[in-house]
Amino acid sequence: MTTRITVFDTTLRDGEQAPGCSMTIEEKVRFAEQLEELGVDIIEAGFPVASEGDYAAVNAVAERCRRVTVAALCRTTEQDIICAAEALKRASRPRLHVFLATSDIHLEYKLKKSRAEVLEMAQRGVRLARALVEEVEFSAEDATRSDVNFLCEVLEAAISEGASIINIPDTVGYALPSEYGELIRTVRERVARHHPHITISAHCHNDLGLAVANSLAAIEAGARQVECTINGIGERAGNAALEEVVMAFAVRADRLPFTTGIKTQRLYPTSQLLSEILGFSVQPNKAIVGRNAFAHEAGIHQHGVLSNPLCYEIMTPESVGAPAERIVLGKHSGRHALAKRYAELGYELSPAELDAVYRRFTRLADRKKRIYDQDLIALLQAKPSAP
Ligand code: KIV
Ligand code: ZN
Repeated sequence: MTTRITVFDTTLRDGEQAPGCSMTIEEKVRFAEQLEELGVDIIEAGFPVASEGDYAAVNAVAERCRRVTVAALCRTTEQDIICAAEALKRASRPRLHVFLATSDIHLEYKLKKSRAEVLEMAQRGVRLARALVEEVEFSAEDATRSDVNFLCEVLEAAISEGASIINIPDTVGYALPSEYGELIRTVRERVARHHPHITISAHCHNDLGLAVANSLAAIEAGARQVECTINGIGERAGNAALEEVVMAFAVRADRLPFTTGIKTQRLYPTSQLLSEILGFSVQPNKAIVGRNAFAHEAGIHQHGVLSNPLCYEIMTPESVGAPAERIVLGKHSGRHALAKRYAELGYELSPAELDAVYRRFTRLADRKKRIYDQDLIALLQAKPSAP
């Protein structure tokens, strides 16, 4: 028995808030179409009150992407909510995403409001949003640093005004997996248990590198929506990476009996499209979509992978749509991989020829980080240097 998890992609909103990640309207629409093809359930397209461009982008995504829910972010003010609802008016399935901080530090220094005032703001905001659209999500910003009793009180109030999705953001990436799982369990038992139609959502930031681990802990604890971004882009150290969460379900179905609507073979192309739009790539060792995610350079690993990829791979590059170029030649590579690459290039080498060229290869690899096919051909033609 597997449970379907709703994938809420916020690349175009929380992702776009990261330095260097802003996108034009056309880029947002292009990427939203890719997300729809990828199979996400919800696209958070922007924060309409923030700028005319964001308003227009939400409007354009809502018009173009008809098979998904399109969400727009708003604070609890009338101006924000009306603006977001307007931007979504052409959506086939609109969702207003209303957020308000619940931690004391945000109340004191940012909102300058008392708990009673915040409770009231949440109620009024959700009530208005619900008068404008069917589906309202409420996020308790900085939930993981909030007093749990107050958090539950605000969530309960948001539900009673009509929110059907309650999001528990780890806004500053502070929680540990066991702790975040515990918080989700508490919200489930104290709030959601009395409202069976409510969905609990996880929204994790990566300041301690735990966004994906925390998201998985939340799902194991009962969250049924996960908020994430492609390539993990987002404020500061980013958000939970969609591709990592989804592949954790796919690869570890033995321990994580959850499914999503994501077509995993489209993960790599989607990551590439985002890199192209933003003008920068993910780090080479990024899980799932990094250039080195399926590359093997060490001789022992190469030998193992050439005999059976399962020796050193827990998923195939094909399963995420990445190029199946597993073997990278460098100073750690062995004769086995070298002979195979020469054979692929059309050169069958005798053992003596292989020995000779292997010596030249290792000398070159000491000087050069990566060896390309042209280097190999040049090595065959190079005169052997004096021993
Ligand atoms: O991290 C956060 O708290 C957010 C909310 C607006 C959902 O992005
Ligand atoms: Zn966030």
